[in-house]
Amino acid sequence: MAYAFKCLADDNNRYLKSFRLFLERSSEHQCMLDFIHGVLPDILASIGGGRSSLKILGVGSGAGELDLQMLSQLQLKHPGLKVDNEVVEPSDEMLYNYKVLVSKTPNLEHVNFKWNKMTASEFENHWQEKNLTKKMDFIHMIQMLYYVADPHATVSFFRSLLNENGKLIIILVSDKSGWGKLWKMYKADLCKGDTSQCVTTGDIKSFLDADGIKYKNYLLPSQMDITECFREGDERGELLLDFLTEVVDFTRSAPPDLRAGVMDLLRHPDCSAEADGKIVFNNTLEVLVLDA
Ligand SMILES: C[S@@+](CC[C@H](N)C(=O)[O-])C[C@H]1O[C@@H](n2cnc3c(N)ncnc32)[C@H](O)[C@@H]1O
Repeated sequence: MAYAFKCLADDNNRYLKSFRLFLERSSEHQCMLDFIHGVLPDILASIGGGRSSLKILGVGSGAGELDLQMLSQLQLKHPGLKVDNEVVEPSDEMLYNYKVLVSKTPNLEHVNFKWNKMTASEFENHWQEKNLTKKMDFIHMIQMLYYVADPHATVSFFRSLLNENGKLIIILVSDKSGWGKLWKMYKADLCKGDTSQCVTTGDIKSFLDADGIKYKNYLLPSQMDITECFREGDERGELLLDFLTEVVDFTRSAPPDLRAGVMDLLRHPDCSAEADGKIVFNNTLEVLVLDA
């Protein structure tokens, strides 16, 4: 059954705090960096079609840590090319942090940043109202499709912006991860706003397969230490639990039976492994790479 929870996505302050803690407690960014340094360079080498500048679009870029790493790999593959880097990001704080990071990062003179403080759907409306026809060489949507109302329509729109030889990469949690298991069991009970929230790469692959769209996929094994979630009254544990359930103050706002069921599943071998006194949640991610 659905409960009248407050969605974490609607509480910007708590969302940002819990996301930061999630990054500290997980290998989320490390496994993505391994991908960016190991696999992405060959993908980036294939874009551009010999043009003298490259157009990049980041959707839901957050504070830009991964974006700048990708831009640096891009420069290695296309030295000397100018880059137009557009950012679509609705959070003021994230955009501010991204700009600070840019100001502290050397060797970005060849990159022109364009900041769009808006959601993916606002960007789509803006694009259509202005009748824009610009094409992109590389678009990335990293851990953001949870926050759109219709992931299928969003992927279709952004893919339509690709230049020939362009690539779109999507990163989300895998349906094989602990998240996939948690959502399979509790999707209907946990927070439901007007966004899709519980989407995994399994859902995206289903509609890509149905539409006959080819893609390559890469699994990124990743873990998250959720031991604190099981310490009664631990503030950070409660914050992580909010991130896991997407519910504000899940510990106090969930009915006891739901809370007990979620806590049991979180430490069940389907979701987590226990070793050396730690409970380690399976945060496996998956990258999907789509052509134009
Ligand atoms: C989980 S964070 C991921 C940030 C970054 N891509 C990363 O992996 O570090 C999700 C990001 O999507 C942004 N976001 C939320 N709703 C969005 C929407 N409707 N359209 C675009 N971005 C959105 C959030 O502000 C946040 O920066």
